[in-house]
Amino acid sequence: MSVVLGMPQPRPAAGSSRASAPRGVRPAVALPAERPAASGLVDRFGREATDLRISLTDRCNLRCTYCMPAEGLPFLAPPALMSLEEITRFARIAVTDFGVRQVRFTGGEPLLRKDLVEIIRSVAALEPRPEISLTTNAIGLTSRATALADAGLDRINVSLDSIHPETFAKITRRPFLDRVLSGIDAVRAAGLKSTKINAVLMPGINDHQAVELLEWALAGGHQLRFIEQMPLDADHTWERESMITAAQIRERLAVRYLLTPDDAPRDGAPAELFQVREQADGPDGSVLGLVGIIASVSEPFCADCRRTRLTAEGAVRSCLFSHTETDLLGPLRAGADDAELADLWRGAMWAKPSGHRMNEAGFAQPDRPMSAIGG
Ligand code: 5AD
Ligand code: SF4
Repeated sequence: MSVVLGMPQPRPAAGSSRASAPRGVRPAVALPAERPAASGLVDRFGREATDLRISLTDRCNLRCTYCMPAEGLPFLAPPALMSLEEITRFARIAVTDFGVRQVRFTGGEPLLRKDLVEIIRSVAALEPRPEISLTTNAIGLTSRATALADAGLDRINVSLDSIHPETFAKITRRPFLDRVLSGIDAVRAAGLKSTKINAVLMPGINDHQAVELLEWALAGGHQLRFIEQMPLDADHTWERESMITAAQIRERLAVRYLLTPDDAPRDGAPAELFQVREQADGPDGSVLGLVGIIASVSEPFCADCRRTRLTAEGAVRSCLFSHTETDLLGPLRAGADDAELADLWRGAMWAKPSGHRMNEAGFAQPDRPMSAIGG
């Protein structure tokens, strides 16, 4: 998942990061008053999107409580989804016209697309070849990991909030932990770069398992990232008071582990990375691995956002929390050429809000839940 958020200060040149420039302290740069006609995906606040997230379907085979209602949602009919050719065309425009370097496929659950291997192969054939990643719940990965890697998939992020079958089933409303764990093992066997694990902690459900989840991830060589729960659930039950904050996550982990900020540049990445040592070994102990904390709510990173998103039905969302979308698939199907599509896309991103404003009065949760936006 991924997030967009922040403050209206302009961002300095790409490559800067929170590690080197404290948030809110940014050199003033001259911003164009009007959208440049031919450019990358720049916005009014000096950001440039070089990271494309494409949702391949709004369907999912889990029903995570922070995302979907128990009964599911009215899903899109297949003809409404972007086809392999349409996805490739949008990705080509992004890569060649906008300088997009990273393409991440998300859902719903992207493994539910039967043509996922072909989609990846086709996007991997673009010049210059973007880095290709997948955010998945890993169900069905066991039989497909090798084919995906052979097609050009570079990285996988798996969503996993608990390694206890009962807790997993409570959160996802499905008893499929074994399939997820076997999918994660298959990623390694397929020779892909290390898997990242995304976890959302919820009070009284799995927050007491934070240490155990980290212990499991470290033992398997996976980078675990805890994500603050965002108001993107279909049931609209999110409450700030019951969210486990980044500070609370650090407290929970401190019971066993000593966390020290990792000083590698963050480069627009949402996760703040920490080196993990055993508390008992102290600061001179050996580093067991890294853990990430994505503080989308309590410490927004909108000012550094480099994301642009396409929903499964081919609309641009400039931010996870946007209330508007710009349809690209309709114009494509009506015969628009690449230059026209690129111009629509640039216009949508130019209008990107400065941030999610979740911490301000009057914040309104978007109507679409995470599964329908693409994490
Ligand atoms: N808040 C935070 N993360 C969420 N995800 C889904 N819904 C939410 C939410 N409301 C995460 C999933 C997955 C990624 C796509 O987004 O756990 O890892
Ligand atoms: Fe499915 Fe991901 Fe939503 Fe869970 S969070 S229901 S795995 S789309």
